[in-house]
Amino acid sequence: MIADVVVDLQYGDCGKGKVAHHLCKTKKYTHVIRYNGGCNAGHTIYHNGRKIITHHIPAGVFFGIKSIIGPGCVVEPGQFFKEIKELEEAGIPARDLVYIAKNAHVITSDHLREDNTDTTIGTTKRGNGPAYRAKYGRTGVRAQDVPALEAFLIDIYDELHGTGERVEILFEGAQGFGLDIDWGDYPYVTSSHCTTASALLNGVPPQAIRNVFGVAKMYETYVGAKKFEGSDPIFNRIRELGEEYGATTGRPRQCNWMNWNRLIKAIKINGVTEVIFNKVDIIEEVGHASIYNDGELVDFDGPTAMKDFISDSLPGNVVAVFSGDKERI
Ligand code: IMO
Ligand code: MG
Repeated sequence: MIADVVVDLQYGDCGKGKVAHHLCKTKKYTHVIRYNGGCNAGHTIYHNGRKIITHHIPAGVFFGIKSIIGPGCVVEPGQFFKEIKELEEAGIPARDLVYIAKNAHVITSDHLREDNTDTTIGTTKRGNGPAYRAKYGRTGVRAQDVPALEAFLIDIYDELHGTGERVEILFEGAQGFGLDIDWGDYPYVTSSHCTTASALLNGVPPQAIRNVFGVAKMYETYVGAKKFEGSDPIFNRIRELGEEYGATTGRPRQCNWMNWNRLIKAIKINGVTEVIFNKVDIIEEVGHASIYNDGELVDFDGPTAMKDFISDSLPGNVVAVFSGDKERI
């Protein structure tokens, strides 16, 4: 068994959908598995020139690959069926390809109602926190207990370990390191684990992991209740040029420069082998960028100098790939 992982190294929205879509197109995966979170995620994908935002459903669906919502996830049936419908309307045979682990948990209408009263964290109001609380409080509802989901259920052990066939998985993460329940800026975090370790909770042994694709942006964004944006008015330009508005909620994302020390921490904890730095073209258009490093702001005239800094400062065994937002792979 072989597994690659796509993991976000900042605060979500770094381009996991784009990278997962690209990997599905170019590698020979038998399964794509979402390993954490629920429909709080919003993964923007350009497929055959069409923009599609997925919330629950992994990117394998665009290439005829079995796409599983893993046991580490929480599923909201209403959003799930809406997404299946949207994909089918776009010509993707989602119903034939999408599965839900029978032991994944369900976001109920009570969870949704409760999350909609949140005023302190700035959640996506998709019921995530209450659903995970119920799961760990052992009062939750599993997908196998919801008759409407029956046609999609899968036993992930049988599927991955029981057939004797080649299994090559792409794990598509949701959210990011800064939002991780343990490593993020608690309590301004999500309620799941957003690291490579989280992928392993979905039924594969650690030895299966091959490549870990870390995804980052050339600047950082965050959506939620804490103050995050830097004071420089340049962040207004970055927000406009980079279309930094939430794919799930439409909220403006707060922008700031990349935090190098936290990025390195995320690379080390996730065991990242390759980092994809997205939105290089936005920095190019803005004409300036900086990085926080050891508490100081390092300024660059543009993306070339910044890319050199990044390539020179990454741990030796980690590969850097730079990509523009307009490169719609
Ligand atoms: P993707 O997968 C960015 C943020 C919310 C809030 C905090 C908790 O697209 O990267 P929650 O609804 O999870 O209880 O909210 O986490 N958040 C995200 N921010 N991208 C996401 O997903 C996010 N999912 C949750 O804005 O600050
Ligand atoms: Mg997103």
